[in-house]
Amino acid sequence: MSTVCHIAGLAVSVPENTLSNFDLEKIMDTSDEWIVTRTGIRSRHVLKDDENISQYAVAAAEKALADAQVSASQITHLLVATCSPETLSPSVACIVAEKLGLSKFSGLQHISENNPSLVCFDFNAACSGFIYGLELSRAFLALNPDAVILLVTAESLSRRMNYRDRTTSVLFGDGAGAVVIRGSGRHLFKILDVSVGADGDYKDLIRIGGGTDKKVQVGDTIAEDFFLTMQGREVFKHAVRGMAQESLKLLAKNSLTVADVDLFIAHQANLRIIEAVGERLNISPDKVFTNLEKYGNTSASSIVLAMAEAREQGLLKQGQKTLLTAFGAGLTWGSALLC
Ligand code: UT7
Repeated sequence: MSTVCHIAGLAVSVPENTLSNFDLEKIMDTSDEWIVTRTGIRSRHVLKDDENISQYAVAAAEKALADAQVSASQITHLLVATCSPETLSPSVACIVAEKLGLSKFSGLQHISENNPSLVCFDFNAACSGFIYGLELSRAFLALNPDAVILLVTAESLSRRMNYRDRTTSVLFGDGAGAVVIRGSGRHLFKILDVSVGADGDYKDLIRIGGGTDKKVQVGDTIAEDFFLTMQGREVFKHAVRGMAQESLKLLAKNSLTVADVDLFIAHQANLRIIEAVGERLNISPDKVFTNLEKYGNTSASSIVLAMAEAREQGLLKQGQKTLLTAFGAGLTWGSALLC
Protein backbone atom coordinates (compact mmCIF):
# COMPACT_ATOMS: atom_id res chain seq x y z
CA MET A 1 0.00 0.00 0.00
CA SER A 2 1.44 3.39 -0.91
CA THR A 3 -0.81 5.54 1.33
CA VAL A 4 1.26 7.87 3.51
CA CYS A 5 0.61 7.26 7.24
CA HIS A 6 2.24 9.22 10.01
CA ILE A 7 2.09 9.16 13.77
CA ALA A 8 1.69 12.85 14.57
CA GLY A 9 1.23 12.70 18.34
CA LEU A 10 1.78 10.18 21.11
CA ALA A 11 0.86 10.15 24.81
CA VAL A 12 -0.06 7.86 27.68
CA SER A 13 -1.89 8.01 30.99
CA VAL A 14 -1.88 5.47 33.80
CA PRO A 15 -3.57 5.31 37.20
CA GLU A 16 -1.50 6.76 40.02
CA ASN A 17 -2.37 3.80 42.22
CA THR A 18 0.22 0.99 42.12
CA LEU A 19 0.31 -2.65 43.19
CA SER A 20 3.82 -3.94 43.83
CA ASN A 21 5.01 -7.53 44.05
CA PHE A 22 5.36 -6.95 47.79
CA ASP A 23 1.70 -5.89 47.94
CA LEU A 24 0.78 -9.14 46.15
CA GLU A 25 2.86 -11.15 48.62
CA LYS A 26 0.43 -9.97 51.30
CA ILE A 27 -2.69 -11.29 49.54
CA MET A 28 -1.53 -14.51 47.86
CA ASP A 29 1.09 -17.26 47.98
CA THR A 30 3.70 -15.59 45.79
CA SER A 31 6.99 -13.76 46.14
CA ASP A 32 8.72 -10.78 44.59
CA GLU A 33 11.59 -13.13 43.76
CA TRP A 34 9.34 -15.53 41.77
CA ILE A 35 7.59 -12.76 39.86
CA VAL A 36 10.79 -10.87 38.99
CA THR A 37 12.67 -14.02 37.95
CA ARG A 38 9.82 -15.46 35.85
CA THR A 39 8.49 -12.23 34.33
CA GLY A 40 10.65 -9.18 35.06
CA ILE A 41 7.62 -7.39 36.54
CA ARG A 42 8.06 -5.48 39.81
CA SER A 43 4.93 -3.36 39.98
CA ARG A 44 1.83 -2.40 38.00
CA HIS A 45 -0.56 0.56 37.92
CA VAL A 46 -4.15 -0.38 38.76
CA LEU A 47 -7.42 1.53 38.90
CA LYS A 48 -8.78 2.57 42.26
CA ASP A 49 -12.28 1.26 43.03
CA ASP A 50 -13.99 4.51 42.02
CA GLU A 51 -12.05 4.96 38.75
CA ASN A 52 -12.68 3.82 35.19
CA ILE A 53 -10.23 3.39 32.35
CA SER A 54 -11.99 5.91 30.09
CA GLN A 55 -10.75 8.78 32.26
CA TYR A 56 -7.20 7.71 31.49
CA ALA A 57 -8.06 7.16 27.83
CA VAL A 58 -9.35 10.74 27.68
CA ALA A 59 -6.23 12.09 29.40
CA ALA A 60 -3.97 10.21 26.96
CA ALA A 61 -6.09 11.37 24.00
CA GLU A 62 -5.95 15.04 25.05
CA LYS A 63 -2.18 14.91 25.46
CA ALA A 64 -1.71 13.12 22.12
CA LEU A 65 -3.85 15.74 20.34
CA ALA A 66 -1.77 18.53 21.92
CA ASP A 67 1.41 16.70 20.94
CA ALA A 68 0.16 16.47 17.34
CA GLN A 69 -1.06 20.09 17.38
CA VAL A 70 -4.43 18.79 16.24
CA SER A 71 -7.72 20.01 17.69
CA ALA A 72 -10.56 17.71 18.69
CA SER A 73 -12.71 19.22 15.91
CA GLN A 74 -10.36 17.74 13.31
CA ILE A 75 -10.82 14.10 14.41
CA THR A 76 -12.57 12.00 11.78
CA HIS A 77 -11.96 8.56 13.35
CA LEU A 78 -11.80 7.56 17.02
CA LEU A 79 -10.74 3.94 17.40
CA VAL A 80 -10.23 2.25 20.76
CA ALA A 81 -8.30 -0.98 21.14
CA THR A 82 -9.49 -2.77 24.26
CA CYS A 83 -10.26 -6.23 25.58
CA SER A 84 -11.33 -4.79 28.94
CA PRO A 85 -13.89 -2.07 28.15
CA GLU A 86 -15.70 -0.55 31.11
CA THR A 87 -19.05 -1.46 29.50
CA LEU A 88 -19.90 -3.84 26.68
CA SER A 89 -21.94 -0.96 25.35
CA PRO A 90 -21.55 1.97 24.90
CA SER A 91 -18.09 1.58 23.46
CA VAL A 92 -15.15 3.20 25.22
CA ALA A 93 -14.72 5.11 21.94
CA CYS A 94 -18.15 6.77 22.35
CA ILE A 95 -17.46 7.47 26.02
CA VAL A 96 -14.17 9.17 25.04
CA ALA A 97 -15.92 11.05 22.20
CA GLU A 98 -18.42 12.46 24.69
CA LYS A 99 -15.71 13.48 27.13
CA LEU A 100 -13.71 15.15 24.35
CA GLY A 101 -16.84 17.05 23.32
CA LEU A 102 -16.80 15.73 19.76
CA SER A 103 -20.59 16.05 19.34
CA LYS A 104 -20.06 19.82 18.94
CA PHE A 105 -18.33 19.14 15.64
CA SER A 106 -19.71 15.91 14.29
CA GLY A 107 -22.72 14.92 16.41
CA LEU A 108 -26.36 14.37 15.52
CA GLN A 109 -27.09 18.11 15.49
CA HIS A 110 -24.39 18.71 12.91
CA ILE A 111 -25.15 16.23 10.16
CA SER A 112 -24.68 18.20 7.00
CA GLU A 113 -22.88 17.97 3.72
CA ASN A 114 -20.21 20.33 5.04
CA ASN A 115 -19.37 18.55 8.29
CA PRO A 116 -17.36 15.34 8.33
CA SER A 117 -18.98 12.47 10.26
CA LEU A 118 -17.17 10.69 13.06
CA VAL A 119 -16.22 7.01 12.75
CA CYS A 120 -16.17 5.82 16.37
CA PHE A 121 -15.87 2.27 17.69
CA ASP A 122 -13.96 -0.21 19.90
CA PHE A 123 -12.20 -3.25 18.55
CA ASN A 124 -10.70 -6.24 20.34
CA ALA A 125 -7.45 -7.76 19.20
CA ALA A 126 -6.35 -8.19 22.83
CA CYS A 127 -2.65 -7.50 23.38
CA SER A 128 -2.14 -7.05 19.62
CA GLY A 129 -4.68 -4.20 19.64
CA PHE A 130 -2.23 -1.37 18.99
CA ILE A 131 -0.68 -3.07 15.96
CA TYR A 132 -4.16 -3.95 14.64
CA GLY A 133 -5.07 -0.30 15.20
CA LEU A 134 -2.14 0.82 13.03
CA GLU A 135 -3.38 -1.52 10.30
CA LEU A 136 -6.97 -0.22 10.62
CA SER A 137 -5.65 3.34 10.44
CA ARG A 138 -3.78 2.55 7.24
CA ALA A 139 -6.96 1.15 5.75
CA PHE A 140 -9.00 4.23 6.75
CA LEU A 141 -6.30 6.53 5.37
CA ALA A 142 -6.35 4.60 2.10
CA LEU A 143 -10.11 5.30 1.90
CA ASN A 144 -9.71 8.93 2.94
CA PRO A 145 -6.20 10.47 2.82
CA ASP A 146 -7.49 13.50 4.79
CA ALA A 147 -8.60 11.35 7.73
CA VAL A 148 -7.36 12.42 11.17
CA ILE A 149 -7.38 9.31 13.31
CA LEU A 150 -7.22 9.16 17.08
CA LEU A 151 -6.14 5.63 17.97
CA VAL A 152 -6.54 4.96 21.69
CA THR A 153 -5.63 1.92 23.76
CA ALA A 154 -7.56 1.49 27.01
CA GLU A 155 -7.03 -1.51 29.23
CA SER A 156 -8.29 -2.19 32.74
CA LEU A 157 -7.43 -5.84 33.15
CA SER A 158 -7.05 -5.49 36.92
CA ARG A 159 -10.85 -5.62 36.86
CA ARG A 160 -10.66 -9.16 35.45
CA MET A 161 -7.90 -10.47 37.72
CA ASN A 162 -8.78 -13.35 40.00
CA TYR A 163 -6.41 -12.65 42.87
CA ARG A 164 -6.93 -16.26 44.01
CA ASP A 165 -5.18 -17.38 40.82
CA ARG A 166 -1.52 -16.53 41.35
CA THR A 167 -0.47 -17.80 37.93
CA THR A 168 -2.10 -14.94 36.00
CA SER A 169 -3.16 -12.24 38.45
CA VAL A 170 0.44 -11.14 39.08
CA LEU A 171 0.98 -10.33 35.41
CA PHE A 172 -1.44 -7.60 34.36
CA GLY A 173 -1.85 -3.88 34.97
CA ASP A 174 -3.99 -0.98 33.72
CA GLY A 175 -3.16 1.92 31.42
CA ALA A 176 -4.13 3.94 28.38
CA GLY A 177 -2.28 5.31 25.39
CA ALA A 178 -3.16 7.38 22.35
CA VAL A 179 -1.65 8.26 19.00
CA VAL A 180 -2.85 10.66 16.32
CA ILE A 181 -2.44 9.23 12.85
CA ARG A 182 -2.76 11.19 9.62
CA GLY A 183 -1.43 11.31 6.10
CA SER A 184 -0.05 14.82 6.02
CA GLY A 185 1.17 17.64 8.26
CA ARG A 186 3.72 17.70 11.05
CA HIS A 187 4.71 14.22 12.17
CA LEU A 188 6.83 12.26 14.61
CA PHE A 189 7.17 8.93 12.82
CA LYS A 190 6.24 7.44 9.50
CA ILE A 191 4.41 4.10 9.56
CA LEU A 192 6.41 2.19 6.94
CA ASP A 193 4.45 -1.04 7.02
CA VAL A 194 2.25 -3.25 9.21
CA SER A 195 1.47 -6.94 9.15
CA VAL A 196 -1.03 -8.78 11.37
CA GLY A 197 -2.30 -12.34 11.82
CA ALA A 198 -4.64 -14.51 13.89
CA ASP A 199 -5.44 -18.16 14.56
CA GLY A 200 -8.79 -18.93 16.19
CA ASP A 201 -7.80 -22.56 16.75
CA TYR A 202 -6.03 -21.28 19.88
CA LYS A 203 -8.96 -19.20 21.14
CA ASP A 204 -9.14 -21.00 24.49
CA LEU A 205 -5.54 -20.34 25.56
CA ILE A 206 -6.49 -16.94 26.95
CA ARG A 207 -10.07 -16.13 27.93
CA ILE A 208 -11.78 -13.24 29.69
CA GLY A 209 -15.30 -13.82 30.94
CA GLY A 210 -18.14 -11.42 31.58
CA GLY A 211 -19.64 -11.64 28.11
CA THR A 212 -22.99 -13.13 27.15
CA ASP A 213 -21.95 -16.78 26.89
CA LYS A 214 -23.53 -17.63 30.28
CA LYS A 215 -27.05 -16.78 31.36
CA VAL A 216 -26.85 -14.87 34.62
CA GLN A 217 -29.37 -13.29 36.94
CA VAL A 218 -29.16 -10.60 39.58
CA GLY A 219 -27.77 -12.16 42.75
CA ASP A 220 -25.75 -14.93 41.04
CA THR A 221 -22.25 -15.36 42.41
CA ILE A 222 -19.30 -14.66 40.13
CA ALA A 223 -17.59 -17.83 38.91
CA GLU A 224 -13.88 -18.22 38.15
CA ASP A 225 -14.44 -18.01 34.42
CA PHE A 226 -15.54 -14.38 34.83
CA PHE A 227 -11.84 -13.57 35.18
CA LEU A 228 -8.89 -13.77 32.83
CA THR A 229 -7.56 -17.30 32.54
CA MET A 230 -4.48 -18.24 30.58
CA GLN A 231 -2.50 -21.35 29.73
CA GLY A 232 0.74 -19.48 30.29
CA ARG A 233 3.31 -22.01 29.08
CA GLU A 234 1.47 -22.66 25.81
CA VAL A 235 1.02 -18.95 25.18
CA PHE A 236 4.70 -18.36 25.92
CA LYS A 237 5.80 -20.74 23.14
CA HIS A 238 3.39 -19.35 20.55
CA ALA A 239 4.21 -15.76 21.51
CA VAL A 240 7.95 -16.22 20.93
CA ARG A 241 7.47 -17.98 17.60
CA GLY A 242 4.67 -15.67 16.40
CA MET A 243 6.36 -12.36 17.16
CA ALA A 244 9.72 -13.48 15.74
CA GLN A 245 8.26 -14.90 12.53
CA GLU A 246 5.89 -12.00 11.82
CA SER A 247 8.75 -9.55 12.41
CA LEU A 248 11.08 -11.37 10.03
CA LYS A 249 8.31 -11.57 7.43
CA LEU A 250 7.67 -7.83 7.68
CA LEU A 251 11.37 -6.96 7.45
CA ALA A 252 11.82 -9.20 4.39
CA LYS A 253 8.76 -7.69 2.70
CA ASN A 254 10.41 -4.28 3.07
CA SER A 255 13.83 -5.54 1.88
CA LEU A 256 15.27 -4.97 5.35
CA THR A 257 17.15 -7.17 7.78
CA VAL A 258 17.38 -7.20 11.56
CA ALA A 259 20.65 -5.27 11.22
CA ASP A 260 18.66 -2.31 9.84
CA VAL A 261 16.54 -2.07 13.01
CA ASP A 262 17.58 0.69 15.43
CA LEU A 263 15.03 -0.01 18.14
CA PHE A 264 12.89 -3.04 18.98
CA ILE A 265 9.75 -2.75 21.10
CA ALA A 266 7.78 -5.95 21.75
CA HIS A 267 4.54 -6.38 23.69
CA GLN A 268 5.53 -6.03 27.33
CA ALA A 269 4.15 -9.32 28.69
CA ASN A 270 7.20 -11.06 30.08
CA LEU A 271 10.90 -10.16 29.97
CA ARG A 272 11.80 -13.78 29.20
CA ILE A 273 9.49 -13.76 26.16
CA ILE A 274 11.04 -10.51 24.88
CA GLU A 275 14.56 -11.87 25.41
CA ALA A 276 13.65 -15.11 23.60
CA VAL A 277 12.21 -13.17 20.64
CA GLY A 278 15.35 -10.99 20.62
CA GLU A 279 17.52 -14.11 20.52
CA ARG A 280 15.50 -15.61 17.65
CA LEU A 281 15.84 -12.37 15.72
CA ASN A 282 19.50 -12.14 16.72
CA ILE A 283 19.02 -8.50 17.61
CA SER A 284 21.53 -6.75 19.83
CA PRO A 285 20.12 -6.50 23.41
CA ASP A 286 20.97 -2.78 23.54
CA LYS A 287 18.36 -2.18 20.83
CA VAL A 288 15.62 -3.86 22.86
CA PHE A 289 13.49 -1.48 24.94
CA THR A 290 11.48 -2.71 27.93
CA ASN A 291 9.57 -1.01 30.73
CA LEU A 292 7.31 -3.85 31.91
CA GLU A 293 8.93 -3.88 35.32
CA LYS A 294 6.85 -0.79 36.23
CA TYR A 295 3.60 -1.60 34.42
CA GLY A 296 3.21 -5.36 34.04
CA ASN A 297 1.27 -6.52 31.01
CA THR A 298 -1.10 -3.71 29.99
CA SER A 299 -2.36 -5.60 26.94
CA ALA A 300 -3.07 -3.25 23.98
CA SER A 301 -1.49 -0.32 25.86
CA SER A 302 1.89 -1.93 26.49
CA ILE A 303 3.58 -0.91 23.24
CA VAL A 304 2.33 2.68 23.46
CA LEU A 305 3.56 2.91 27.07
CA ALA A 306 6.96 1.65 25.94
CA MET A 307 7.06 3.96 22.91
CA ALA A 308 6.26 7.02 25.04
CA GLU A 309 9.00 6.19 27.51
CA ALA A 310 11.53 5.35 24.79
CA ARG A 311 10.75 8.69 23.15
CA GLU A 312 11.20 10.51 26.47
CA GLN A 313 14.61 8.88 26.84
CA GLY A 314 15.58 9.95 23.30
CA LEU A 315 15.66 6.35 22.07
CA LEU A 316 12.61 6.46 19.78
CA LYS A 317 13.53 8.96 17.10
CA GLN A 318 12.20 10.09 13.78
CA GLY A 319 14.16 8.65 10.88
CA GLN A 320 15.42 5.63 12.81
CA LYS A 321 13.89 2.26 12.08
CA THR A 322 11.74 0.96 14.92
CA LEU A 323 10.29 -2.53 14.87
CA LEU A 324 7.16 -3.12 16.97
CA THR A 325 5.63 -6.53 17.60
CA ALA A 326 2.78 -7.91 19.70
CA PHE A 327 0.98 -11.13 20.51
CA GLY A 328 -2.20 -11.85 22.42
CA ALA A 329 -5.50 -13.60 22.97
CA GLY A 330 -7.34 -14.90 19.96
CA LEU A 331 -4.63 -15.78 19.21
CA THR A 332 -3.67 -12.56 17.44
CA TRP A 333 -0.33 -11.04 16.58
CA GLY A 334 1.29 -8.38 14.45
CA SER A 335 4.39 -6.34 13.67
CA ALA A 336 4.90 -2.79 12.46
CA LEU A 337 7.82 -0.77 11.14
CA LEU A 338 8.22 2.92 11.91
CA CYS A 339 10.89 5.36 10.83
O1 UT7 B 1 -0.37 -10.83 26.87
C1 UT7 B 1 -0.80 -12.03 26.30
C2 UT7 B 1 0.34 -12.92 26.21
N1 UT7 B 1 0.63 -13.51 27.50
C3 UT7 B 1 1.83 -13.94 27.73
O2 UT7 B 1 2.66 -13.76 26.91
C4 UT7 B 1 2.11 -14.72 28.98
C5 UT7 B 1 2.85 -15.96 28.61
N2 UT7 B 1 3.25 -16.84 29.72
C6 UT7 B 1 4.09 -16.45 30.69
O3 UT7 B 1 4.55 -15.33 30.75
C7 UT7 B 1 4.54 -17.51 31.67
O4 UT7 B 1 4.12 -18.76 31.24
C8 UT7 B 1 4.02 -17.26 33.11
C9 UT7 B 1 4.70 -16.06 33.71
C10 UT7 B 1 2.52 -17.06 33.08
C11 UT7 B 1 4.34 -18.46 34.00
O5 UT7 B 1 5.72 -18.74 33.98
P1 UT7 B 1 6.24 -20.23 33.81
O6 UT7 B 1 7.69 -20.20 33.90
O7 UT7 B 1 5.60 -20.76 32.56
O8 UT7 B 1 5.67 -20.91 35.12
P2 UT7 B 1 4.65 -22.12 35.28
O9 UT7 B 1 3.25 -21.66 34.98
O10 UT7 B 1 5.14 -23.28 34.53
O11 UT7 B 1 4.76 -22.40 36.82
C12 UT7 B 1 5.98 -22.85 37.43
C13 UT7 B 1 5.77 -23.01 38.90
C14 UT7 B 1 4.55 -23.83 39.28
O12 UT7 B 1 4.87 -24.57 40.42
P3 UT7 B 1 5.26 -26.14 40.30
O13 UT7 B 1 4.07 -26.78 39.67
O14 UT7 B 1 6.48 -26.17 39.45
O15 UT7 B 1 5.47 -26.53 41.73
C15 UT7 B 1 3.52 -22.81 39.64
O16 UT7 B 1 2.55 -23.28 40.56
O17 UT7 B 1 5.57 -21.72 39.51
C16 UT7 B 1 4.37 -21.75 40.28
N3 UT7 B 1 3.77 -20.43 40.21
C17 UT7 B 1 4.01 -19.44 41.10
N4 UT7 B 1 4.77 -19.40 42.20
C18 UT7 B 1 4.82 -18.24 42.89
C19 UT7 B 1 2.92 -19.95 39.26
N5 UT7 B 1 2.61 -18.67 39.52
C20 UT7 B 1 3.26 -18.34 40.66
C21 UT7 B 1 3.34 -17.16 41.41
N6 UT7 B 1 4.13 -17.15 42.51
N7 UT7 B 1 2.69 -16.02 41.08
